[in-house]
Amino acid sequence: MGRIFSGVQPTGNLHLGNYLGAIRNWVRLQHSFECLFCIVDLHAITVWQDPAELRKSTREVAAGLLAAGIDPARNVVFHQSSVPGHAQLAWVFNCVARLGWLNRMTQFKEKAGKDRENASVGLYAYPNLMAADILLYKATHVPVGEDQKQHLELARDIAQKFNNDFGVGTFPVPEPLILGPAARVMSLRDGTRKMSKSDPSDYSRINMTDDADAIALKVRKAKTDPEPLPDTLAGLDARPEAANLVGLYAALLDLDREGALTRVAGRPFSEFKVELTDVAVSVLGPINAEMKRLAADPAHVDAVLREGGERARALAAPVLDEVFEVVGFLKT
Ligand code: AMP
Ligand code: TRP
Repeated sequence: MGRIFSGVQPTGNLHLGNYLGAIRNWVRLQHSFECLFCIVDLHAITVWQDPAELRKSTREVAAGLLAAGIDPARNVVFHQSSVPGHAQLAWVFNCVARLGWLNRMTQFKEKAGKDRENASVGLYAYPNLMAADILLYKATHVPVGEDQKQHLELARDIAQKFNNDFGVGTFPVPEPLILGPAARVMSLRDGTRKMSKSDPSDYSRINMTDDADAIALKVRKAKTDPEPLPDTLAGLDARPEAANLVGLYAALLDLDREGALTRVAGRPFSEFKVELTDVAVSVLGPINAEMKRLAADPAHVDAVLREGGERARALAAPVLDEVFEVVGFLKT
């Protein structure tokens, strides 16, 4: 059995993209792998976070994972800052990774924007920390969305360079697991942009905390075009909004896009949107209710994270010892 590590940032609301692109897959993977699921607060502060909001989001993401069906007894669910080894191994990797490698990272370029001189050093070194997350537990598989593939490639390079430089076999080279038909859920306001926590318009996304009324309103307001739905997938080609809604419908029903389209082909959006709302509410409704219950019981969520942190520290300790030994740090 392989070991999985994956992470999600506690920065704002979890949305349907996070659920369909990541969390739902994690729920499924817990049956065939040993899994660590981490709320990556150290990654979050690579851009400014309001401290009170960060704490709130950390609990909310934990609640979202539990509500979606991740079993904290069977998996290790924890927050990154509770395990010092992430930052310690990241430092070692800062000294293994090369400037040239990091200069190629497209997410840094996007996030730093034009004002690169003013980006935090942490934002630049972010992929090294991500490599540390994974390799601190010698994880073999990493479920990630499309957007994280380049970072995982870098983690693989770091594992190999470390092993080569020191002539050891310390780290396995982790494999990506890219799953599901909804690897990319797009904004409800613009079918060419990713659904994102950081989009200023709340109408662009369906949050995991949205109730049935909010979901209905957002689907009703979702951008579309005047044509009815086509009969074939090719008919969605130049219609990004229609393609996104059909993709969502398919993912929610766990069908492929072709199968989903045959159910709704020829319908006007007014009808299709009612159907899509029903499906979204039936999937998210129970999760949403459980998140509300957990929001009212923060002590329970904190206890789950505390226990997860203890288990993660116990798994990390021997790996960190091994790395320190290999690197030549004196043990006194
Ligand atoms: P983030 O919200 O960036 O911390 O991402 C957490 C996880 O959700 C990662 O595995 C992402 O790849 C995934 N994810 C985020 N946004 C989307 C989206 N719009 N569609 C599909 N997956 C997404
Ligand atoms: N960078 C990832 C994201 O923004 C989150 C993350 C941090 C992660 N560490 C990880 C994902 C390790 C997979 C494995 O989505």
